[in-house]
Amino acid sequence: MTNYFTEENSAETVINAMSDDADPRLREVMSVVIRKLHEAVKEIEPSQDEWMAAIQFLTATGQKCDEWRQEYILASDTLGVSMLVDAINSRRPSGATENTVLGPFHVANVPESPMGANLCLDGKGEPMFVHGVVRDLDGAPVEGVKMDVWQANEDGFYDVQQKGIQPEFNLRGVFRTGADGRYWFQAVKPLYYPVPTDGPVGALMERLGRHCFRPAHFHYILEKDGYDRLTTHIFDPDDPYIGSDAVFGVKESLMAKFRPIDDVAQAAEHGFEGRFFDVEHDFVLAPV
Ligand code: BEZ
Ligand code: FE
Repeated sequence: MTNYFTEENSAETVINAMSDDADPRLREVMSVVIRKLHEAVKEIEPSQDEWMAAIQFLTATGQKCDEWRQEYILASDTLGVSMLVDAINSRRPSGATENTVLGPFHVANVPESPMGANLCLDGKGEPMFVHGVVRDLDGAPVEGVKMDVWQANEDGFYDVQQKGIQPEFNLRGVFRTGADGRYWFQAVKPLYYPVPTDGPVGALMERLGRHCFRPAHFHYILEKDGYDRLTTHIFDPDDPYIGSDAVFGVKESLMAKFRPIDDVAQAAEHGFEGRFFDVEHDFVLAPV
């Protein structure tokens, strides 16, 4: 007997419309999505106007996307879904460095630099000496790790957001660890910055009374065969937004030590003229 659609049997009716021959994983995923969506609609009981507002939000989100802008990823980030998917896909043994969001500003194929290079190509910003050791779970240094680092400048912008203002590859570097697992480079003090707010996601955040800032951070990707690829950040624990990251990427274990150093002799050792920040953080890679 045909089961016609009713308010009560809505989800089952739609789920049963799928063919038994459909891809099993797709059936599984869509069954959950349909069940939860119908559950949400039953709880919310939207008016026709409210449902149309939801459709218009999704339409505007799609229309904002182009080669450079992915408004759906921003929606996923600001709703905490990117961090949840990341958490599910990067469960690691205790002691291993935790993952966090990749974000939209990674650039592939940045030229490799010798260890110790200065990421800052325009001389702007407060200097930092960033360093630490890459280890395995037993505490042994890991040699030959490819470390890809990128950061925003002192005004909170990545080079790709300021083409023609910042030099290409400003505040980006790719390094490889030696036998002692150590890494070190020069950089500048990053600033907190807003996620893009000129689209429907920004408008929604505003209506929800949410701010749009990410606390100051450095991005890292650490890769070596035999180890789980690590995509993470280190954060400035004193940042005003450290407790309220707009994309929920902060983890207690990813706080680095940002120590201001006023000592002229120490500054000279690194080629700095005056005060600088010493930033220390070790990374622990998990085996695959
Ligand atoms: C970032 O840290 O680069 C970022 C992450 C998520 C959304 C926007 C920016
Ligand atoms: Fe970032």
